[in-house]
Amino acid sequence: MKCVLALDQGTTSSRSILFDQSGTVRAVAQREFKQHFPQSGRVEHDPNDIWETQQFTARKAMHHAGVHCEDIVAIGIANQRETTVVWNRKTGQPIHNAIVWQDRRTAGICAQLKADGAEPLFRQKTGLMLDPYFSGTKIKWLLDNVEGARKQAERGELAFGTIDSWLVWNLTNDRHRHITDVSNASRTLLFNIHTLEWDDELLGLLGIPRSMMPEVRASSEVYGSVDKFQCECGCPISGIAGDQQAALFGQACFEAGSSKNTYGTGCFLLMNSGEKPVVSENQLLTTVAWQRGNEVNYALEGSVFIGGAVVQWLRDGLGIIESSSDIQKLAAQVPDTGGVYLVPAFAGLGAPHWDPHARGILIGLTRGTGKAHIARAAQEAICFQSLEVLRAMEKDTGQPMPSLQVDGGACADNLLMQLQADLLQVPVERPKLVETTAFGAAALAGLAVGFWKDAADISAIRQVDRTFEPQIGKDEAESRFAKWKKAVERCKDWET
Ligand code: G3P
Repeated sequence: MKCVLALDQGTTSSRSILFDQSGTVRAVAQREFKQHFPQSGRVEHDPNDIWETQQFTARKAMHHAGVHCEDIVAIGIANQRETTVVWNRKTGQPIHNAIVWQDRRTAGICAQLKADGAEPLFRQKTGLMLDPYFSGTKIKWLLDNVEGARKQAERGELAFGTIDSWLVWNLTNDRHRHITDVSNASRTLLFNIHTLEWDDELLGLLGIPRSMMPEVRASSEVYGSVDKFQCECGCPISGIAGDQQAALFGQACFEAGSSKNTYGTGCFLLMNSGEKPVVSENQLLTTVAWQRGNEVNYALEGSVFIGGAVVQWLRDGLGIIESSSDIQKLAAQVPDTGGVYLVPAFAGLGAPHWDPHARGILIGLTRGTGKAHIARAAQEAICFQSLEVLRAMEKDTGQPMPSLQVDGGACADNLLMQLQADLLQVPVERPKLVETTAFGAAALAGLAVGFWKDAADISAIRQVDRTFEPQIGKDEAESRFAKWKKAVERCKDWET
């Protein structure tokens, strides 16, 4: 049985999924890894944990499916984006933990750049905001704060990479290829999305030597081969995309105007905007979706920082559920939130607010509030945040969105999907294959080696599982949304 192996390296776990030619999942393996919170607002990962858990899950998935290395026609990578690793080229060892996309430590650097009037330049060239979310200011922080790092970087001894680069460097350990793809490059604040090159002016503003940067490649081509996973046969790595762009591809959103919302650690609503970058006037990001051959597709993106992570917080922080899947049962014990609103601005607020100083708030509590109300408010929070970015996208395009295609782990939760349809007031469409992120990476890799022929082959694999229709009226949805907006205003600009 021939398969494509997708490595889905996410914020809280590494996963490996094997797809056969019909798009059927043959095996899934997943392993969580440690999250480091060294100070308030800081989030780190050990890059070696990432590499080890990724290898472990790949071997495990192969073992489960009874698939050997020679059966793997291609490997595709989808990765948590923006998370920043800097390592020594000679030893291959990171100089510091990876600084995760959720980390807020560079809020001061961003504020200074804004005060210097640099935001319009960054926005015009990269399509992004000056927010600690992106890699550029994280690299600057590492060079400024790790002893000796700047000197080493200037001598060309250090390499920077997002997680895709880190994995490829380790996967190709015969030659240690130092590459990334356009979709990941477009999340760094250093990549000009119009010329598709690292931008010397932006590198200069952040004091980052160009020698640290990986070579930028298309999202679907053979980059090198793997000599890991207990085999010598060298499977080609032939697909790379940031996980959200991979999900857009996996949902077969190939036409301009098509979109998807992924419910992972965060929630990310992306709309394919075609072959030209569209500038948002409503605080959304412009980003590269993917490149195949010479064809580049762009997307508009609304990034919500805390989606499924709020459920993890109920489990690990509050301890009101034992496992994440218990939230549906708990939330269903009450018909509504009893007026409770939870704004999970644990890592500040992303689109459309972009407030790195916001912090979470739980409001509307009464003597009657119980844990079921809080669980339900957490679910509604995921939906309201997605609603905010959907509204911004509708304003940018001037078109109402007729329905929403969803994917990601949390969309298996029927109550969450129903709440989403209710609050959006449009149908929510869930595909049969919710492993869309991994499938997108597999599709990019499989297309590059001819395992699948063209985009039509990929579209044919996508099938709808269930459509959730709104069950409440427009007025009720609007009045709940108005209350949500009030709660959001109260959590802004808190941690200064
Ligand atoms: O931009 C961050 C995003 O790529 C993280 O994705 O799936 O880990 O929530 P995920």
